[in-house]
Amino acid sequence: MAVIRWEEPPEGPVVVLLDQTRLPTEEVELVCTDAPALVEAIRSLAVRGAPLLGIAGAYGIALAAARGFDVDEAAAALASARPTAVNLSVGVRRAASAYRAALAKGGDTGAAAAAALVAARALHQQDAEASVRMAGHGLALLDELLPGGGHRILTHCNTGSLVSGGEGTAFAVALQAHRAGRLRRLWVDETRPLLQGARLTAYEAARSGMAYTLLTDNAAGSLFAAGEVDAVLIGADRIAADGSVANKVGSYPLAVLARYHHVPFIVVAPVTTVDPETPDGAAIEVEQRPGFEVTEVTAPQAPVTGAGGGIPVAPLGTQAYNPAFDVTPPDLVTAIVTEEGVVSPVTAEALAELCARSRQVTIS
Ligand code: MRU
Repeated sequence: MAVIRWEEPPEGPVVVLLDQTRLPTEEVELVCTDAPALVEAIRSLAVRGAPLLGIAGAYGIALAAARGFDVDEAAAALASARPTAVNLSVGVRRAASAYRAALAKGGDTGAAAAAALVAARALHQQDAEASVRMAGHGLALLDELLPGGGHRILTHCNTGSLVSGGEGTAFAVALQAHRAGRLRRLWVDETRPLLQGARLTAYEAARSGMAYTLLTDNAAGSLFAAGEVDAVLIGADRIAADGSVANKVGSYPLAVLARYHHVPFIVVAPVTTVDPETPDGAAIEVEQRPGFEVTEVTAPQAPVTGAGGGIPVAPLGTQAYNPAFDVTPPDLVTAIVTEEGVVSPVTAEALAELCARSRQVTIS
């Protein structure tokens, strides 16, 4: 089942998503017939993960255009559906620019809608290709840092084919190591509160046949202390110009642990995740999610009792602090792996050079 696809049934075009809120127990598709439905799917995390959000945003513009809705309105709603992953606004901007450029050239709205779809499909394809290249660069880096193979990798959140047009970012590197016979084990953080690690990464790892073990986020420290982690591999939602990395909450504590235990902390992300317009970590907007995600556990089959529709695990009325992401400063990041190559050490100059190189590749 595809994570995202464009379809054109007789009733009109639709964007079909694999509803990630239902995994791993059910593989159910969600059909979006307009941009507001896609906005809701993004907010509810039915579709999620930075690269996939970019692709979804681009298809959202193509959908609004093809169905004759106001593209500027759709662009504003889609781009602001979630604030942290810069890929979302990149995807929206690319498809909306293609739409506007076609109109400016004298095309009608049909031709402009077709141009937006071409841009969305190109981004989808570009992300698939980026996955392959990130996996290659990432495994080469692991082999260089950890000669001898038998890598034991710790990962956080979900970074595989569920977030990408291809096999993903950090997970794609682990997969490449597994296929090359050089992955001893993938340690999978459960990733509270929404359990992207337990529900989604364990699902992807099980399907790949790799050796993996699930742990609570709080167990990571004792795993490092026992010498069981050779490297940490994570994705990113936004990388600021100075190399600060926003990723799923819980990534920063792993970076601190990795530094203390002299373990490489590696970020894998496509160049579209690097945001030269965000100067540093303090300028990254971190999404705050509703407290009920922490005070309740949602299980679709269970009796509904809490305000958020889940089973309370804290006294009613408890306030919760629930940032969806945290920011790791660049000096705790050993390397950033992109499709254009590896940045290490992570400096503003090296990232600026990478972005300039990538722009040249895109233009030529
Ligand atoms: O809130 P989510 O599930 O969208 O968060 C996703 C992550 O934090 C991923 O680690 C990140 O997008 C990188 S995916 C390549």
